[in-house]
Amino acid sequence: MQVAIFGTGYVGLVTGTCLAEVGHHVVCVDIDAAKVDGLNRGVVPIYEPGLEPMVKANHAAGRLRFTTDAAAAIAHGEVLFIAVGTPPDQDGSADLQYVLAVARTIGEHLARPAVVVDKSTVPVGTADKVRTAIATTLAARGAKVAFDVVSNPEFLKEGAAVEDCMRPDRIVIGTGSVQALEKLKRLYAPFNRNHDRIVAMDVRSAELTKYAANAMLATKISFMNEIANIAEQVGADVEMVRHGIGSDPRIGWHFIYPGAGYGGSCFPKDVQALTRTAAQHGYEARLLGAVEAVNEAQKGHLFELIQRHYDEGEDEGVRGRTFAVWGLAFKPDTDDMREASSRKLLAQLWEAGAKVRAYDPEARQEAARIFGPRADLVLCDSAAAALEGADALVVVTEWKQFRSPDFAALRAALGDAVVFDGRNLYDPAEVEAAGLAYYGIGRGRSI
Ligand code: UGA
Repeated sequence: MQVAIFGTGYVGLVTGTCLAEVGHHVVCVDIDAAKVDGLNRGVVPIYEPGLEPMVKANHAAGRLRFTTDAAAAIAHGEVLFIAVGTPPDQDGSADLQYVLAVARTIGEHLARPAVVVDKSTVPVGTADKVRTAIATTLAARGAKVAFDVVSNPEFLKEGAAVEDCMRPDRIVIGTGSVQALEKLKRLYAPFNRNHDRIVAMDVRSAELTKYAANAMLATKISFMNEIANIAEQVGADVEMVRHGIGSDPRIGWHFIYPGAGYGGSCFPKDVQALTRTAAQHGYEARLLGAVEAVNEAQKGHLFELIQRHYDEGEDEGVRGRTFAVWGLAFKPDTDDMREASSRKLLAQLWEAGAKVRAYDPEARQEAARIFGPRADLVLCDSAAAALEGADALVVVTEWKQFRSPDFAALRAALGDAVVFDGRNLYDPAEVEAAGLAYYGIGRGRSI
């Protein structure tokens, strides 16, 4: 089928590439000419396992093209995806200006029937706004063209986006139109073998499904972080508790890892946006407010542990010390630092007069871009280099390569012989046996 995708960000690029991979003819449109040029030369602007070779292969095969020419893309596509950003507004609601600008562009150029698909995460009611924007623009130029607007949210995880896209666990299609549903079923048929993953529903339910999924996952994390904080106070180990509850299938093993708080481009933004949507409809989403508040506090928890350690010791506090920080990305296998817990930690360390030597396997460039040159930050080339001259180690992101360090070497390298483990990667007994002090999240026995 002939597909056009607006937006070559995370969602658009991965979706477009995977659709091309299964044989569709995809044109990706972006207003950023430099990005489009780069993509046409095989330069993939994000780090995502498996994506770059797939982009190159499909581009070379002529099934995947990148352009700034919206009119040509609209002429090409029988299915038109809107996959542009929906950044948070000042008040936390999703800013729809980019989505609606694409809708108007579609209205300006549409000349044959098409299915317009909202792929971006958009608040309930957006499909109606997109429909109105297209209809108004069509009417303004006196054109009569049939089109449907469908909500088809994406459920990709960063770091596993290609895999998630190629092997989705569900394909949610929200539409009242039988023809549009049939068309999308055909589009997704290559991803829907063996058993039916398509969940068809009305547009608003599909829009809410996306937010409900992310809000549920964020809730699980904040819940576990709250239990961790209680564990710390009462002298229990949340890792034991996690093992004790995960085996109940109603609770499950996923997303019950306590840590330094959730980050990324989705959970923080989506929890806020859903809270705002509810408020706009006169409902106060108290649970979601608490999920967000717990997370904000959790992002500061590592620093609290650090402060507690230094202020209660013989030492003169955090000022003047050097902290090795392992992990800057909001999670492993990505270079994305949006809303990453590391950002709050670094800001707190700097505020307290400490220096940071940081290492992340992928996010170094991103960190350099965000923080710029500063005297109290060294971005290192390896985990070992970050330890040089450091007093303490803080682990913020659970990259695999941080999982089993040589604790004796850590002991030798760290001036104050202390490890703050923001993702509970280590066995406290093993760390302590090497002569290091250990602090984890919710590990009451070490407090
Ligand atoms: C999330 C969802 O998991 C995807 O299903 C969804 O499609 C995506 O948002 C989206 O809306 O686009 P993503 O933001 O890539 O995906 O990352 P996650 O793997 O969900 O991790 C989010 C954050 O939660 C990370 O900071 C991670 O460290 C944290 N987390 C996750 C925990 O602290 N504990 C856990 O048990 C799990």
